[in-house]
Amino acid sequence: GAQRALIRESWRRLSGSPVQHGLVLFSRLFDLDPDLLPLFQYNCKQFASPQECLSAPEFLDHVRKVMLVIDAAVSHLENLPCLEEYLCNLGKKHQAIGVKVESFSTVGESLLYMLEKCLGAAFSPDMREAWTKLYGAVVKAMRRGWEP
Ligand code: HEM
Repeated sequence: GAQRALIRESWRRLSGSPVQHGLVLFSRLFDLDPDLLPLFQYNCKQFASPQECLSAPEFLDHVRKVMLVIDAAVSHLENLPCLEEYLCNLGKKHQAIGVKVESFSTVGESLLYMLEKCLGAAFSPDMREAWTKLYGAVVKAMRRGWEP
C-alpha cells in the first residue's frame, strides 16, 4: 500500500514531460554502456554518436514507448500479472533485436538515476526501494523472452 502510493506520487510528478525524462534515462544509459548505441538502427542506419541518436525522431518514439510501458506498470500496480504476457512478448522482441538480458540492469540503474535527478530531494530511500521492486517485476516478466 505505502510503496504503491510512493510510486504513484513520484510518477505523477514526472508525468508532464515523459520524453524529457526518458531522455535523461537514455543519456545516462549510453554513458554507462555506449555499446548499446548500435542496437538502435532505423532503416539499417547506425548513429554516429549518442547525441545523434538522442535527437532522432524514431529514437524519440522509442523513448515514448519505454515511458508508456513504465506508465502501464504504474497503472497496474494492483494487477501486474495482467501485463505478464505483453512483457514476455516485449522481451522476445528485444532478444531478437540483439539486446542482452544483462543490459536491463543498466537500464534499471539509469531509471533510478533519472528519478533521482528529476525528483531531487523528493526522491526518498523508500521510493528507491519501491521503484527497484517494480522495475524488478517488469524485468522478471521480460526475461522470459530470453528463456528457451
Ligand atoms: C522496441 C531497443 C529497452 C520498450 C525496440 C526497438 C529497438 C529497441 C531497436 C525496435 C525499434 C523501435 O521500436 O524503436 C532497445 C534497447 C533497450 C531497450 C537497446 C535497452 C537496452 C526497452 C525497455 C522498454 C522498451 C526497458 C520498456 C520497459 C519497447 C517497446 C518497443 C520497443 C514498447 C516497441 C515494440 C513493438 O513494436 O511492439 N526497442 N529497447 N525497450 N522497445 Fe525497446
